[in-house]
Order: sequence, then structure tokens, then C-alpha cells
Amino acid sequence: MEYYSMFLILFIISLSYCLANATNIVTDTCMNISKSDPDYIKYDFCVKTFESDPRSSNTSIDGLVEISFNLSSSKAISISTTIAQLLKDPKFDPFGKSALQACYEIYSDAPDDLQAGLEALKRGDFSTANVRVSGALDIAPDCEDSFQDKQGEVSPLTKDNSEFFQLVDISLAFTVLLKK
Ligand SMILES: *[C@@H]1O[C@H](CO)[C@@H](O)[C@H](O)[C@H]1NC(C)=O
Ligand SMILES: *[C@@H]1O[C@H](CO)[C@@H](O)[C@H](O)[C@H]1NC(C)=O
Ligand SMILES: *[C@@H]1O[C@H](CO)[C@@H](O)[C@H](O)[C@H]1NC(C)=O
Repeated sequence: MEYYSMFLILFIISLSYCLANATNIVTDTCMNISKSDPDYIKYDFCVKTFESDPRSSNTSIDGLVEISFNLSSSKAISISTTIAQLLKDPKFDPFGKSALQACYEIYSDAPDDLQAGLEALKRGDFSTANVRVSGALDIAPDCEDSFQDKQGEVSPLTKDNSEFFQLVDISLAFTVLLKK
């Protein structure tokens, strides 16, 4: 019984140590990232984003970089799928369809931009990384704009665009933070 409770206590101590460590890398990084762009990157969104990937709990800053770029690319791919479905929806008139088509085209470039950005970041080429990721950052506002050209047209992608923008902004923050 004594051994058993000692084991339990040790287990709890090491577990809380692990959890504390896990929270630290994510919360520390998100603290730094949200400070770097307080208008657009909300600390809570950043923490929630990384916590959505279980690998964040046991990783280094390099791991978080990969996870961030991975989440940004995955979101771009899922938005493209959403747009492809919306394009088949008869409720969109020709204007709406052409706006969706424009979004589809720019979103299809996102994975390449993000991949090239990540590779540049890994080899320490921060300016190329920044240019490529900035390209991906323009996609969401550009897509949103394509619906604003006609009065009364409502973008069906506002929520997705906003989420993609924030995810990419986190990826972009790494191209600035890691340079220091
Ligand atoms: C956060 O920023 C501080 C101060 O610049 C730095 O010492 C620390 O290593 C950074 N933490 C992470 C996880 O990037
Ligand atoms: C992740 O966990 C394993 C096993 O506990 C450990 O060996 C490794 O160092 C951890 N990796 C990081 C980056 O913390
Ligand atoms: C993200 O990571 C997962 C797991 O490693 C991988 O299967 C997936 O293809 C990645 N997605 C992208 C878009 O890179």
C-alpha cells in the first residue's frame, strides 16, 4: 500500500511537471506572438489553435512552427473544398459564382506559399519566408473583397476567411520572432 501511494504521488508529480512544461512552450510562444501583433493575434486564439494539435504538448518551438504551418495549409485546403461545394449551389448568381471562383483560385496557391515559406524559415532565410507567408496572408482579405464589389452581396466565407487570416498571421509571426 505504501509503495502504491508513493508510486501514485510520483506519478502525479511527474504528470503535473509534464503538463506544466507542455503549457509553457505553447503559452510562452503565444504570449510572444500575440505581443508581436496585438491587433490581430489574440492570445486565446493562439493557445486554442496549438492545443487543437496534440503534438503541441510535447514539442519544441520548431515543432510549433511546423504545426502552425500545417494548420494554415490544412485550413486552406478545407476552405477550397468548401468553395468547390458552394460553386455547385444554385443560390449563387453569376456575380457570386465569379467571386467564389476568384477565391478558389487564390486559395489554391496557399499550400505552395506556406510550404515554400516553411522551407525558407528552416534554412534561416527569413526574408523569403516573410514574403511567401505574407502572400498567403493576403488571400483572406482579397477573397473577402471579391464579394464587396457588388452592393448587397454577402460573403459566405467571412468566418473561414477570418480564421485562415489569424492562422496565417501566427505562421507569419514566426518569420519575425525567430529572426531575433
Ligand atoms: C519569448 O520572448 C522572450 C523575450 O524575448 C524570450 O526570452 C523567450 O525565449 C521567448 N519564448 C519563446 C517560447 O519563444
Ligand atoms: C517528447 O517526449 C519524449 C518521451 O517522453 C521525450 O523523449 C522527448 O524528448 C520529448 N520531446 C520534446 C521535444 O520535448
Ligand atoms: C499536417 O500534418 C499531418 C500529420 O503529420 C499530415 O498528415 C498532413 O498531411 C499535414 N497537412 C498538411 C496540409 O501539410
